Amino acid sequence: MTQRILNIIVAAGSGSRFGADRPKQFCLLQNCMVLHHAIKRIKAATPGSHTVVVMSRDWADAVDSLGCTVAIGGATRWHSVKNALDATADVAADVITVHDGARPLPSAAMIERVIAACSQHHGAIPVIPVTDSLRRVDGSPANRADFRAVQTPQAFCADLLRRAYDVEYRPEFTDDASVMTAAGYTDIALVDGDPMNLKITLPMDIEIANVYLQHGAGR
Ligand code: C5P
Repeated sequence: MTQRILNIIVAAGSGSRFGADRPKQFCLLQNCMVLHHAIKRIKAATPGSHTVVVMSRDWADAVDSLGCTVAIGGATRWHSVKNALDATADVAADVITVHDGARPLPSAAMIERVIAACSQHHGAIPVIPVTDSLRRVDGSPANRADFRAVQTPQAFCADLLRRAYDVEYRPEFTDDASVMTAAGYTDIALVDGDPMNLKITLPMDIEIANVYLQHGAGR
């Protein structure tokens, strides 16, 4: 059976660390908005899917949603995803992916990996090894081999994700996998992420993404 896929792309952050006149997801990367790169790649890798983009009220009318459903963002990323789930309550789906609109370069292969893993697991997340050495904030060393950095898109069995979001917000919910785990859906597969799937955070990241694009990132 073909999986019915609902994509949620969150782009309602204000990007206070970025320091430009607009949130980072609306900056241009090779003449195309960072968000539009993300939308195009997610849609191309999931033909026949339904895609909802979450934007703040201030930007929703100003930015082309490229034919996606638009939901209005909330106070935190968790609230933005929750609003997208509520706005698409009548969309039948087997798998829901959630992607940061500030990550312009997810590859088709990675998107396919997280979705495919949902037939065997509660969900799947792309991860990459940590290359820096690590210390806890109390100064004690930590073994970096025990850790992975987590990216998006993350993919989940749709019914389970909807149930997991049926709880009160907690500040430790930094991504969707943490919401699933808190709800008891702990079988989350770790699949290969991609170091070039960067999240635009600082202005220099646009230049780095530009170089990654020239090296074939996002294909
Ligand atoms: O702030 P951070 O980079 O961790 O945000 C990750 C993603 O979540 C970004 O794409 C951002 O636009 C989105 N976000 C959101 N609603 C918020 C906060 C963040 O959609 N209230």
